[in-house]
Amino acid sequence: MKKNKTISRRSFVSNGFKAAAFIPFVGVPLTCFGRTKEKTGINTLTNTPKPLDILILGGSSFLGPHQIAYALERGHKVTTFTRGKTAPTVHKDYYSKAEHLIGDRENNLEALKGRKWDAVIDNSGRKVAWTEATAELLKDAVGMYVYISSVSVFYPYYKANLKEEDPLVLKVPEDAASDERFTYDYGVMKANSELAAERIFGKERTAVVRPTFMAGPADRTNRFLYWPTQLVKGNDVIIPGKKDDPVQFIDVRDIADFTIRILENNTTGVFNGVGPEKEMSVTTFVQKAHEALDSKSKLISIDDSNFLRENNLRFQAPWVLDSEKFHGISRVNNQRAVTNGLRFRSLEKTILDTHNWWNSDAVAEERKDAFLSDANELHNRQKDLLEKWKTLRK
Ligand SMILES: NC(=O)c1ccc[n+]([C@@H]2O[C@H](COP(=O)([O-])OP(=O)(O)OC[C@H]3O[C@@H](n4cnc5c(N)ncnc54)[C@H](OP(=O)(O)O)[C@@H]3O)[C@@H](O)[C@H]2O)c1
Repeated sequence: MKKNKTISRRSFVSNGFKAAAFIPFVGVPLTCFGRTKEKTGINTLTNTPKPLDILILGGSSFLGPHQIAYALERGHKVTTFTRGKTAPTVHKDYYSKAEHLIGDRENNLEALKGRKWDAVIDNSGRKVAWTEATAELLKDAVGMYVYISSVSVFYPYYKANLKEEDPLVLKVPEDAASDERFTYDYGVMKANSELAAERIFGKERTAVVRPTFMAGPADRTNRFLYWPTQLVKGNDVIIPGKKDDPVQFIDVRDIADFTIRILENNTTGVFNGVGPEKEMSVTTFVQKAHEALDSKSKLISIDDSNFLRENNLRFQAPWVLDSEKFHGISRVNNQRAVTNGLRFRSLEKTILDTHNWWNSDAVAEERKDAFLSDANELHNRQKDLLEKWKTLRK
């Protein structure tokens, strides 16, 4: 059994290039409902939701195309609102079936006027004023506002087991160091945007979803790529940090599915969109990824925090070096979201699909080259790092 599984997985990996476009979009393991597999390959729940008209502010980048695919599969209609600059790299077929409105959240919301929707998902919130303007404009034309926030609202993450109701920082402290202003700015912007949506739509018509690091096909960042690219090549791979350091991440599709289902169920409130379901250590994360890709890589643990800090290895998503201000980043409580329907794909699926997407035509060769040759990326720094580490331990 194990052998068959390994062989099929191995051929899946080696054929990933061509197969990428046909990888089944496996649905969430909701055990309380039956599932059907439709001709598109997306597993959907058998309970048929009431069809909704959904507006997505954004929709063409990372999270949006997955939301659109899931929503259309569930029988909903989708309208997006963007500047028309970003093109999706996944689910282009679904994307083409949505209606697309063009404008600019900065200064042109004309296309949203005089229309009605059942719900709006605010994916592209980058300024509090943007959320205020769209919420004001849509409050009498749309039933429910879903704001996609971030666990960054908890920065500085002093404590473990962060829950939705934990206090948020709403103003960047005046004495914040210049190198942490960016981190503060983003969290403070997201926190105030959450409040703006709730104030204007009312808490009874607002949902807030706070994803942690999202991984999966269509990621615009390179944060997660060290693992699939190095493990598939069989290069040495570093396990950074103490062997029990926790990691948290979420498959982008789990957030996409959750967002659509909370609309269907009219679920309001604030939800930490965090996986995996149960605690996972960095060691388990790397070992599972290694196994998923049938990797030949040697795994080398570097567990000396001082060494990691001195050599500027503080973050290799989803792992983050433990420190006073980042202690809680990988210890966020996800219980409320799980109770309200957040479900999780396996790490194996996330890593395999990311690998296949990265090696497909969906990703431009220039982007691949830029990542692989980037001197700051761990795969290009690790030879020196491992030499130093070996010398230190002699
Ligand atoms: N990536 C993560 O790990 C992560 C973690 C936590 C939270 N989040 C949050 O998740 C959300 C979704 O992230 P994402 O990466 O999928 O999407 P994103 O990169 O925020 O999506 C950008 C979308 O907004 C549109 N857009 C950008 N500027 C615009 C403007 N001025 N007016 C109108 N539309 C504009 C873009 O299309 P055009 O360029 O065509 O306008 C695109 O469709 C974000 O709010 C992000 O903060 C992400």
